[in-house]
Amino acid sequence: MPSFTQDEATEYDSRIVRLVPGYDLLHSCTATQLSATLVDNAHILVIGSGTGKDIAQLAAINPTWRFTAQDVSIDMLNIGQQRFSDLGISERVKVHAGSINELNDPADAAVCLLVMHFLADNGDKKDMFKAIAKQLKSHANLYIADLMRPETTFERDAQFTLCQQLGLTEVGVERMKHNFEHEFYPLDRIRLADLLDETRFSIGKLYFKALGFSGYVAQKR
Ligand SMILES: C[S@@+](CC[C@H](N)C(=O)[O-])C[C@H]1O[C@@H](n2cnc3c(N)ncnc32)[C@H](O)[C@@H]1O
Repeated sequence: MPSFTQDEATEYDSRIVRLVPGYDLLHSCTATQLSATLVDNAHILVIGSGTGKDIAQLAAINPTWRFTAQDVSIDMLNIGQQRFSDLGISERVKVHAGSINELNDPADAAVCLLVMHFLADNGDKKDMFKAIAKQLKSHANLYIADLMRPETTFERDAQFTLCQQLGLTEVGVERMKHNFEHEFYPLDRIRLADLLDETRFSIGKLYFKALGFSGYVAQKR
């Protein structure tokens, strides 16, 4: 997994839009799904909240929602905190640097964007799903988006081409290919459904797809 510290944190916002085609649209689609399902004063848990993009987008949709911003990288969280302050929403965000298991404030929804693909499917992903389920009220939705296994032989090539069109250099593409092999643990749809089922979630419904990146919503049973 990348470290998400120092340069990897400060350069994150400018790099991620070249690495994840549809990054802004993913966040818009997620935010509007929440606005269609949540009422006022909802509490939203954002896992791997990073530099705060997820919360900035959600906070703009409903001024009564409050958030828990959880991440393991203090450098990413610091950038997020500055963003919340600039937006005047700091009072609505509780920042937590550390494990999800340390939280104790049941949420009405959870958002976990571009995080789970860094965890190996050796028990780590399952543990994370279980930990998220524990932090959610019954019937709350989890919105999760990750790099998935390619569904065609040419999907990855198309993705690399689009990343270049978005400004990624040839060296950047080579690094991305290497990282996909060594730092990402993409699931296929069947394995994702199994993991969700084993951890008290319904089958995930696809709500976003841009080449290799897919977003699913699953309800806690
Ligand atoms: C690619 S960034 C995504 C950030 C943000 N969700 C977004 O959409 O821009 C992945 C984030 O997940 C965090 N992360 C990695 N492993 C984590 C874990 N086990 N628990 C919480 N956060 C984690 C990283 O520190 C990083 O900030």
